[in-house]
Amino acid sequence: GRVAVFMGGDSAERAVSLNSGKEVLLGLQKAGVDAYGIDVHGEDILPLVHARQFDRVFIALHGRGGEDGTLQAILEQAGIPYTGSNVMASALAMDKLRTKYVFAGAGLPTPAFRLMTEVDQAVGIFAELGSPLSVKPAREGSSIGVRRVESGSELAEAFTAAAAHDPMVLVERWIDGSEFTVAVLGDSALPAIGLSTDHAFYDYDAKYLANDTRYLVPCGLPEAEEAYLQELSVAAFRVLGCRTWGRVDVMRDATGGFWLLEVNTVPGMTDHSLVPMAARAAGIEFPELVVRILKDTLE
Ligand code: DAL
Ligand code: MG
Repeated sequence: GRVAVFMGGDSAERAVSLNSGKEVLLGLQKAGVDAYGIDVHGEDILPLVHARQFDRVFIALHGRGGEDGTLQAILEQAGIPYTGSNVMASALAMDKLRTKYVFAGAGLPTPAFRLMTEVDQAVGIFAELGSPLSVKPAREGSSIGVRRVESGSELAEAFTAAAAHDPMVLVERWIDGSEFTVAVLGDSALPAIGLSTDHAFYDYDAKYLANDTRYLVPCGLPEAEEAYLQELSVAAFRVLGCRTWGRVDVMRDATGGFWLLEVNTVPGMTDHSLVPMAARAAGIEFPELVVRILKDTLE
């Protein structure tokens, strides 16, 4: 059947999604799949789905409106199979605050955190969680609106910046150490990737613009430790109810403890994105990767 690759969209990650979608489309076509791309806008979705010019959808949309369960619900209602996680898991994973409630409830390690709703909570939160802190819009991606802060006044400022993206602002303890990401494909983890940047963290620029971001595959951890990191990542993926594919972001502190940050249900698929890199390290070339993700919609 015919496959539509949904890309672009209206979220803050539109530019990233157009790149992901372009690569996914090329990969599917290379593998001989009858696929075409659609730059999707919210108001067009119902007529688009109604017109039914495709049999399946590969979702390459990042952020709100595409990755958060709303599109998944429309496709579900129309009986059109789509890639990736279902409505519930998509919505949950988009929301970093509720993701952390689930991690904490399941006994999985995640940095101490608070919901911040007003700027005058800054001093109290700082006193409670310590320093440094990470401030994030709860439902955003690609590190948009994320800041590292070390004082109450910085926190107040960062809150205002994050709240411009989402009124729900998450504040969590900053983990000093190193950053890892683990792609999950089907039921298992791909090789972990270590991230190293001269930026304060792996921010939007380090992700998409900088040339000096270093990606470590193999990730540099001893085998047993990488295996544990992979196990932890699969557990995080499963506890949110995710399916088919995703990417789990994890910090490792100076004493070797791992801390789960979040799960991405439609991770970046641009030419320097992490899931394709991890797949390649496992001997899975890009066309095979996208076909494997697509195939899950048939089951
Ligand atoms: N939100 C971006 C696309 C990622 O997780 O890769
Ligand atoms: Mg994310």
